[in-house]
Amino acid sequence: MDRFRIEGPVVLRGRVRASGAKNAALPALAACLLATEPVELSRMPRVRDIRTMCRLLDHLGVTNEEGDRGTLLLTPQTASAREAPYELVKTMRAGVLSLGPLLAGRGRARVSLPGGCAIGVRPIDQHLAGLTALGAEVRVEGGYVEASVPGLAGRLRGGRFRFALPTVTGTENVLMAAVLAEGTSVLENCAREPEISDLARLLSAMGGRIEGAGTETITVHGVERLGGARHKIIPDRIEGGTYLIAAALTGGDVTLEEAEPADLAPLLEKLAEVGATVETGEQRVRVAAAGAELCSADAETAPHPRFPTDLQAQYLALMTQARGVATVSETVFENRFQHVPELARLGAVIEVRGGTARVHGPTALTGAHVMATDLRASACLVLAALAARGETLIHRIYHLDRGYEGMEGKLQSLGATVERVPGPDLD
Ligand code: EPU
Repeated sequence: MDRFRIEGPVVLRGRVRASGAKNAALPALAACLLATEPVELSRMPRVRDIRTMCRLLDHLGVTNEEGDRGTLLLTPQTASAREAPYELVKTMRAGVLSLGPLLAGRGRARVSLPGGCAIGVRPIDQHLAGLTALGAEVRVEGGYVEASVPGLAGRLRGGRFRFALPTVTGTENVLMAAVLAEGTSVLENCAREPEISDLARLLSAMGGRIEGAGTETITVHGVERLGGARHKIIPDRIEGGTYLIAAALTGGDVTLEEAEPADLAPLLEKLAEVGATVETGEQRVRVAAAGAELCSADAETAPHPRFPTDLQAQYLALMTQARGVATVSETVFENRFQHVPELARLGAVIEVRGGTARVHGPTALTGAHVMATDLRASACLVLAALAARGETLIHRIYHLDRGYEGMEGKLQSLGATVERVPGPDLD
């Protein structure tokens, strides 16, 4: 398993481009299961989760071909496969996004339950309840969700469904099923993340009729078939946000290019509150903190448009370098502080009680061996290592490779000393 060797401390300076959003690209790929003609997706991030999803699509009869500069051409073949097997879903929860499209497009789906994960239990009851409200028959057996459209018509029927809580992939799954349902569906208490609006834009370009994506209520007028489309994935606000936090944390000056400042607003407000200079322009965000004394600021994660859970770990790393005590509450996932003991190995002083961490800063961090436990926890350790004196070895960075495109190259271009060290398979 590869590791990162990072030599710190460093001051990051320069320009870096945001990659396409992993969490928008994954549902976009799943949507290709609904297409009857080729779909061209551009600004696709080259990360492991995308390759895994492409393998799943290939298994389900949608071939993919790489074009220039992050473009993927997805071509539906005449396919009848309806099963997303455990082997392809176990390493990537987003495989569950094949459920809605398979059911709506092929009348039947058998999709492996994604299983537990490091950051929490992550049930999919709301996905299943939403599909049931559209007329599907759903049962869970042998670790698989088995769903089918009853009757001879072979189409789901539009319905009204209120999510018990806003779920990102749940909203995406039910939305993808509703586009091909007969009649109108009204989905309430939907998640409002920008990735959902991006999916709706793709589905609309394919011929879907959707109103209200990005708000709590999405109305879908079902159509009989979806064609193909060309679509550009939105920039990754979490990846980009990670580099902006790194800029503040190292007292640097970084301009994020090809970014969407509006999607980054909850983070940018926090960075300004902490004492960094934040400037936004057309598809561009600059964060500078040279000579600034950072002060602590409390944060609480919550669904969009509030502070994203996917930046909580990185924000915690930042708070180790800010003056005062920051209280950071995680309200989305029940077990998302696994980076804390690893940060402590670098010298951070953090207490965790339930869903709340209290970070004391600033602390002088020193390099050490640390272990990545999940995708965003890995990013947090990279950021802390940039501020730590001496060498940090981050083990198990395969987590990082799931969602950060060429991270070492991007950090090197900003002046960091980061090296990928190949390691033995079991590490
Ligand atoms: N939940 C339920 N029942 C459901 C669905 C969700 O109780 O049927 C709960 C979850 O357990 C959680 C909360 O609702 O407590 C929100 O979870 P959500 O369903 O919104 O998360 P997700 O769709 O599984 C996506 C991202 C995550 C990101 C979360 C929250 C993708 C592929 N994944 O997950 O991304 O943290 O939304 O914003 O879009 C990451 O990229 O590192 C990552 C974990």
